[in-house]
This record gives sequence, structure tokens and C-alpha cells, in this order.
Amino acid sequence: MVTEKSTSGVSRRNFLQAVGAGSSAGVMFATMGAMGLAPTAAAQPRAESWVPPRGSDFSLTGRSAKKVVVVGAGPAGLATAYELQKAGYRVTVLEARHRPGGRTLTIRGGDSETDLDGVRQTARFADGVYMNAGAGRIAQWMVTLDYIRELGVPYEVFTNANADAYLYNERSGATPGNPVRYRTAKADVFGYTSELLQHAADQGALDQKLTAADKENLRTFLRSWGSLKSDGTYTGGSNRGYEVYPSAWNEHGTPLPGPGTVSEVLASKVGQYFPFEINWEQSMLMFQPKGGMDTTYKYLVRAIGNQNVHFESPVTGVENTSRGVRVTYTPKNGRPRQVEADFAVVAAPAGLMRRWDTNWGPAVDAALGEFSVGSPAGKIGLQYRSRFWEDDHRIFGGITETDMDLAHVWYPSYGYGERKGLVVGYYNTGTNARTYADLAPKQRELRAVEQGVKIHGEKYRTELESSFSIAWHKVPYIEGAWAYPNTSSAGFRLLQEGAGNVYFAGDWMSEVSAWQHGAFWSARYAVQALHQRVMSS
Ligand code: FAD
Ligand code: ALA
Repeated sequence: MVTEKSTSGVSRRNFLQAVGAGSSAGVMFATMGAMGLAPTAAAQPRAESWVPPRGSDFSLTGRSAKKVVVVGAGPAGLATAYELQKAGYRVTVLEARHRPGGRTLTIRGGDSETDLDGVRQTARFADGVYMNAGAGRIAQWMVTLDYIRELGVPYEVFTNANADAYLYNERSGATPGNPVRYRTAKADVFGYTSELLQHAADQGALDQKLTAADKENLRTFLRSWGSLKSDGTYTGGSNRGYEVYPSAWNEHGTPLPGPGTVSEVLASKVGQYFPFEINWEQSMLMFQPKGGMDTTYKYLVRAIGNQNVHFESPVTGVENTSRGVRVTYTPKNGRPRQVEADFAVVAAPAGLMRRWDTNWGPAVDAALGEFSVGSPAGKIGLQYRSRFWEDDHRIFGGITETDMDLAHVWYPSYGYGERKGLVVGYYNTGTNARTYADLAPKQRELRAVEQGVKIHGEKYRTELESSFSIAWHKVPYIEGAWAYPNTSSAGFRLLQEGAGNVYFAGDWMSEVSAWQHGAFWSARYAVQALHQRVMSS
């Protein structure tokens, strides 16, 4: 059971004191309170854990189930609808795009996307080949995995770290055709670091910090961690891997050339990639749904009921009324329509909501503005007619890290033994993402391949069949990869209160933005706040 610390941590009274009765937020809330719209203190989510609403909460108390409109069929919106509906709420989900999942977009053969510049791409991927254009990995501790398991979505290991994948730092001296394997880079960095530390300890440089017993324990550790010789030096060893691996009948294996000198190893800057492996969000094992990340959201839509989820229905207005909310949307090929409900949970990107017609007031608008859209990230899927990274390079999943503008190359964690496969040829953010985003899709492909060839050789070019690329800040109704909230800001706390009969959800409303986990927890907290309010009314 995953429990989370409260992200709200502020009572309504404290909140009102904090913003000040004279502020516009204070005026707005006083007015809303008079209208019976302002949330009560009981609407605050419980700090210690998630208590899902249950059908018996209604049947045992004689209350009638409420109607809720959910805006956005990404993870936050669908989880909101799912949890509410399980308890008997009537839910309607309005989604602007033609498919569920939001930024958990999976691209398969035949899928088309048109970006904000009007550039349309259609994927020409083979059956069974897919690209997770957005979310790709799930840590074991994440609540995402709990939903996957509850829904019965098949899932498998996602290889996030692979000792046989490469590191390629062009700016630090790597030359085309000479990437270093992770295991080799680690052996050398660990080896020389151990040698230096052992030397410092032997010289007495650590005597202020270490007892004699500590020093002995350190020596034992460094000898094994750094593969040191008995004289405390590092000269390489089997940890580095082999040019020809040992086999049989006196074939002892051919060691790799090297190691370089300590200066060369430090100058290669490969050590910068190692902390990733124990990053709390990123460490192995990691998981993925089989067949693509959006599978989870197809299952969620099925659980909620297809008839309750309306695609191609962009919302343009959310208003509090004296009885609840009125949401304005435009169904595909239709005229604008309005739907009334008791509550709304809006789970679209925060920055985009500011373009809607709302009456939640300037303080809420300003708070939403803290989560600006536009943070860029990009990926390209390169479909190859053969899996040469497995056949020739013996890399079965994992990630190659580079200091080139493509940043990361992901090898597939699925389709082993198939003829074709798909490599994510770049996954980058910031300036690098903008560099690719500004190119036409074919030019993006050429640039990514040109760089990838330096690591993988000519097959990276000659085996290529097709590609599909995404620039997240150009995706309609998303317009950015993620937004990191200042979770200590008054605006963030204000949004946790909701705005009248409207609650907010989305990964940006969490402590774990840029992860489905954050989106799911934001949904839970919104559901909990809404339900506690209903139960206390
Ligand atoms: P979204 O997924 O953005 O969903 C919002 C929905 O609202 C969208 O469907 C949108 O179309 C809809 N919407 C917008 N405007 C309107 C409107 N006017 N009317 C109706 N609907 C509207 N997470 C992980 O767990 N693991 C990863 O490895 C990972 N990697 C990522 C890599 C990339 C490149 C990106 C971009 C994201 C990644 N994430 C990852 C993050 C994950 O995708 C998000 O955290 C998650 O999708 C957020 O869910 P959400 O529901 O808050 O928002
Ligand atoms: N959560 C995103 C990823 O793992 C940022 O790539």
C-alpha cells in the first residue's frame, strides 16, 4: 500500500488568513461562500492516506449520488472518473483529442498526428511495432502499477539500465565508432576512484574522519568495488567486459583495450550518467504495459464505459452556477453544447485552462498561470528492418547516453526475437528538443540518424524503414511536456482548495510531476476532497 504525505498541508482557515481577506481571492471566496460554493475544511484530503469513496457511502447515508463532469481523458481525468464511478457517481468525461491517455501517447502503424503548425505525420510502423511517444517507464513503487494490476493490464519489465548499452561523449573526446559500454565505463570510474580513495586513506588524509576499523572496512570495500590489485592500484579487469568473451577449451577471452589513464577516464565524463541508476524515480526494475503505455487508458475507458467518455469534444468554458457547474464543449462536427453537473474535475494542462471562459476569478487564473505550458521534449521512433542492436551489438533493451543533442537512445524492451524493431533515436528536452522541433520530420530523422551512426555504425542508416517524431510543445491540447509546480507556493495551495464546485487534477497538481504516478495521486486527492464535501453536505 502506497501512502503519501499530504500535499495540501493547509486548512481552509489558514489559507484564507494567508491570502488575506482584502485580497481578490479573499473577496472571491467570501462571495462563493455566501453562494454556498466555497469548499469546506472537510474538503481537504486526508493527510495520511487514500480512502476511496464507496458505494455504501451513499446507500448507508441515504444521499443521492452526484453527477461530475471530468475534463481531460489523460491519466488524471480517467482515474478521477474511474474512482468516482466505482462509488456510484455519474460521470461524463470530455476529451479534446481523438484518443485517451494524454501524454501517455503510443504511436502504432496508421496513427496520425497533426501538430500546431499543421504538420501531419502518419506512422508507417509494422504490426506489433510501437513507440511510446510520451510516458515510457514505471517504477515499482509508483501507484501507476497498482492501477495497471487492478485493471488487469498485461505488463512487463522495462529495461532502464543495461550494462551493455553505450555511453558516447563526443564533446569529451569520444570518436565516431568508439562508444564505451556502461560496464566498462563503470569499471574504470569505480576502479580509479577506489585507487585514489585508498591512496588518500593510506596517506592519512582521512584520519580525522575514519577510525582504524573504518579504514580497514573501507579498504575491503574499495578492493572489491574498484577491482583493485593487492597493491591498491587499478589496472582493469574482467569487470570491464571483453572484446571476445571467454568460451571453452582454453579460450580465456580477449580483454578490451585499456583502461586509459586516470586523467583520460575523468576527462571522458562518463561518470555523470551513473547517478541515474539509483535515482528514486528511475531505478530498476521498471515496468511498461505490454503493447504500449496507452493500453492502461484504453482499459480505463472500458471500465468507465465508452458511452461516458466523449472524444473530440474540447471544452471551452467551465462556470460555477448556484446549483453546480456548467461546462461548455464542442462535439466533433457539432455546435457548442453545455452540460450541467454538480461538480467538475478539470484535468487538462493548467496553462491551457486559462484560455477557457470561467468565473473562478483572477486569483485562480493567476495560480494556474504558474504552471505555464511550453516546456519542450521530443522523441523520434526509428523502425528498422532488422534488430542489429541485438544481433551485432548485443544490446537487448536499455538506454545509450550521449552528450549529443539527441541525448538518449532507447532500445526496445519488447519484441525480442521479432525481425523488426523500433529504437527511440532521440529523447531530449529544452534547447535540444527545440532544435529538432524546428525541423521538418524528415530532417529530424536525418539529424538523429547522422548522430546515431557514430555509435552504431552504418546499419543505423541503411536498415532504417520509417520514422515518426513528436515535439510535445506542438501537440494540440497539450502544448508542453510537463510543468513543475512550486509546491510551497500560495497558488498551489489555492488550487488544492478547488474553485467553487470545480476541482483541479493533473500531474502538475502533484509532488511528482512528469509522471503518471503524480497524475493518479492528484486524481485521488481531488476525488477525496470532492467526496468528503458531498458526505459532509
Ligand atoms: P495529460 O496526460 O496531459 O492529459 C490531459 C488531457 O487533457 C489530454 O488528453 C488533453 O487532450 C486533454 N485536454 C486538454 N485541453 C482540453 C480541453 N479544452 N477539453 C478537453 N480535454 C482537454 N510518466 C511516467 O509515468 N513515466 C514516464 O516514463 C514518462 N515519460 C514521459 C515522457 C514524455 C516525453 C512526456 C511528455 C511525459 C512523460 N511522462 C511519464 C508523464 C506522463 O505522461 C504525465 O505525467 C501524464 O500523462 C499526466 O497525466 P494528466 O492526466 O495530468 O495530463
Ligand atoms: N518521467 C519522465 C521520464 O522518465 C520525465 O522520462
